[in-house]
Amino acid sequence: MVDENKITPQEVYFDRRKFLAQGSLLVGAYNFGSLWPLKAAADVKYPAPAHSAFKVTDSDRPMTKEELATSYNNFYEFSLEKDGVKPLAEKWKVPNPWKIEVGGLTEEKKSYTIDDLVKMAGPLEERVYRFRCVEAWSMVVPWTGFPLAKLIAKLKPKSSAKYVAFTSYANPKDFPNIQGQPHYPWPYREGLRLDEANHPLALIAMGIYGKPLPAQNGAPIRLVVPWKYGFKSIKSIVKIEFTAEEPPTLWNKIAPDEYGFFANVNPEIDHPRWSQATERILNGKLFPTRIRTLKFNGYEKEVASLYAGMDLKKFY
Ligand code: MTE
Repeated sequence: MVDENKITPQEVYFDRRKFLAQGSLLVGAYNFGSLWPLKAAADVKYPAPAHSAFKVTDSDRPMTKEELATSYNNFYEFSLEKDGVKPLAEKWKVPNPWKIEVGGLTEEKKSYTIDDLVKMAGPLEERVYRFRCVEAWSMVVPWTGFPLAKLIAKLKPKSSAKYVAFTSYANPKDFPNIQGQPHYPWPYREGLRLDEANHPLALIAMGIYGKPLPAQNGAPIRLVVPWKYGFKSIKSIVKIEFTAEEPPTLWNKIAPDEYGFFANVNPEIDHPRWSQATERILNGKLFPTRIRTLKFNGYEKEVASLYAGMDLKKFY
C-alpha cells in the first residue's frame, strides 16, 4: 500500500481508525446482506436509502479482495503491466496540496483543493459497485466519494455546456511510462455527456475499502462510472472542464474503432479483438471464473433511459 503519510490531505476526511473499523464491518456485513445499517452504525455519513438500489447484494457477486483490487491495476502512466503499477505507484510522492483546475463553460473557473470539493459536494458516501474493464475482467469494489452531479451543480456549467472533460495528472518526471510511451497522446483524458455525468451513479471517489485511494487506484481523486468500461473511470484528476463539443479522450484517440466515447458495457457488441459476452472475475484463482456480462454492467434499469433512441452499435 502507498505510504499514507504521502497523502496527508485525505487524513482530513479519512479517520484511519474509523475507516479501518468500518472496513471490517463492511466485509462482515456484506456476507449477511445488511451492509447499510451496520455502516450507519459506524458513525460515518452514508447514502440515503434510495442508494440501496445501487448496492451489490450477496445474491449478486462477492466483494473483490482488497489485496487484488489494489495490486492488479491499469494505470498506464506508470506501467503497461498490471502488477507493475503498484510497486512504482508506491514510490510516487502525491503532490500535496492537490489542485483541481475547473475551466471551460462555467462562471466558477478556478483552482480547487480536495477540501474545497468535499465542502461543496460532500458528505462522503460509500458505494459498492461492479467494475468491468474493457479487457473483460471485473471486480466488485467499495468506493468512498460523492456524486459527480453534486459537484457539477456547484460548478454551475453554462447552458451551452454539453459535456464534462477530465484530465489526469501527467508530470513525466513522476510517471515512467509517459517517458516510455511518448507516442501516446498524454495526458490521460476522459469525458462524459453532461446528462451521463449528472446521473446519480457517477461518483467522484477519494477512497476505496474505507481508506484513502492508494496511488495505484488513482490517488487522490478519481472518477467511477460503473455502467461503463473501466477506462472511462479516469484516475488522479487535475482538471475538470465543461465543453460544448465531445472532448477528445486518450483511448479514443489511440484506437477509435476499439474504444468509443460512450464505452457503455455491452455484451452484445464485441471489441474488434475479443468478445465482450463474458468476463473473468478477479478472484486470484488459478482457473478464473467466467460469468456472463450484463448490459450496462447490470445497471440497465438505472441508466438505459440516458440512451433511449440511440444506436448503441454506432455509439459504442
Ligand atoms: N486513469 C489514468 N489516468 N490512467 C490509466 O491508465 N486506466 C483506466 C482507468 N483509469 C487508467 C485510468 C482503466 S483501463 C481501468 S480498467 C481503470 O482505470 C482501472 O482502475 P483500477 O486500477 O483502480 O482497477
